[in-house]
Amino acid sequence: MQKQTKNQKVVLVGDGSVGSAYAVLMMQQTVMDELVIVDIAKDHSEGDALDLEDTQLWGQPKWVHAGTYADTKDADIVVITAGVPRKPGETRLDLVQKNLKILKTIVGPVVDSGFNGIFLVSANPVDILTAATQKLSGFPANRVLGTGTSLDTVRLRVALGKQLDLAPQTLDVNVIGEHGDTQFAAYSPAKVGDQSLLDVAQAKGLSLDDLKQTEDGSRKKGGQIIGLKGATFYGVATCLTRITKAILNNENVVLPVGAHLDGEYGVHDLYLGTPALINAQGVAQVLPLDLSADEQDQMTASAQAMAKVLNGAMA
Ligand code: LAC
Repeated sequence: MQKQTKNQKVVLVGDGSVGSAYAVLMMQQTVMDELVIVDIAKDHSEGDALDLEDTQLWGQPKWVHAGTYADTKDADIVVITAGVPRKPGETRLDLVQKNLKILKTIVGPVVDSGFNGIFLVSANPVDILTAATQKLSGFPANRVLGTGTSLDTVRLRVALGKQLDLAPQTLDVNVIGEHGDTQFAAYSPAKVGDQSLLDVAQAKGLSLDDLKQTEDGSRKKGGQIIGLKGATFYGVATCLTRITKAILNNENVVLPVGAHLDGEYGVHDLYLGTPALINAQGVAQVLPLDLSADEQDQMTASAQAMAKVLNGAMA
C-alpha cells in the first residue's frame, strides 16, 4: 500500500550513550522513516548506523545513516543529546560552560541548512541548553522544547507506585521546575482517578513527609545511577522517544516536558519542566498546574536559580 504521509525524518545530534539508546528505541517505533546520526566521531556514527540497520528486520523499514548538519534541511525534528555527561559528584549545572560551547557549534549550522522543524533537547543542563537553543536559533518558542522534568516525573511515579502499590501511570503527579536540584513534585493538584493523591496516600497511612522522602530519593536517582554505572541513558532516551512520537503523530497529548514559560507560574522567558500539550507544532500549549502557595514559592525559587545560570551563561 502506498504510504499517504510524508517521509518522517529525525536527525540525532550526539551519538553517545543517550543518543544511541534513543536511536535503538526509535528504530522500534512505527513513526519515523529516516534517522540521520550526526556526531563528531564520524566513524562511530557510521558504525552505529550500520549496527542500527540490523535492528529493523521485524519492524517498519527505515533508512538509518550517518550524516551532516546539511541533512537537517528537511528534517521534522532535530534531537540534541550532544554534550559532556556528568561525572560522579558533578551537578548538571557544572556542565553549563562546556555544553553551551558545544551547543553553539550545532545550532548555527542547523539553522543555516534551512531547518524548519522542531528542536528537542536533552543535553544537560537541559533547561539552560533548551533556552539557549531557542535564543541562538531565533525559532518560535513552541518549536523548541526539552526533556525537562519528564524523567523526574517518571522516576517519581515509579517510586510512589511502589510505595502506594499502584501502577505508575495511574498516578497523575508531576515533577516541575528545573531538571536538577531545585525540582519538586506538585502534590496539591495530584490525582489518582478522581481522588486527591494526598488522600489516597493518607488512607494507606502515608503522610506528605513520607511522599517527600520518596521524592528525595528519585531526585537523587540520576546521581545514584551515575555513581553505580557511570552514566544514565535508558530513562532519558525513553522520554525523548515518547516526546518524538507525540510530535510525529500529532498526538495532542499532555506530557511533562521542558517548555518555554511566558507568564505561566509567574515565570517569564525561561524553560522549565511543566505539563504541556504536545503535537506537530511542538508545544501547542503550556498547561500550568494549580499550585499551593508553598509549591508556587518552590517554582519561583527554581526559576530564579535558572535565570541566574542562564543570564551568566549567555552574557
Ligand atoms: C538523568 C540525566 C538525564 O537525570 O540528567 O538521568
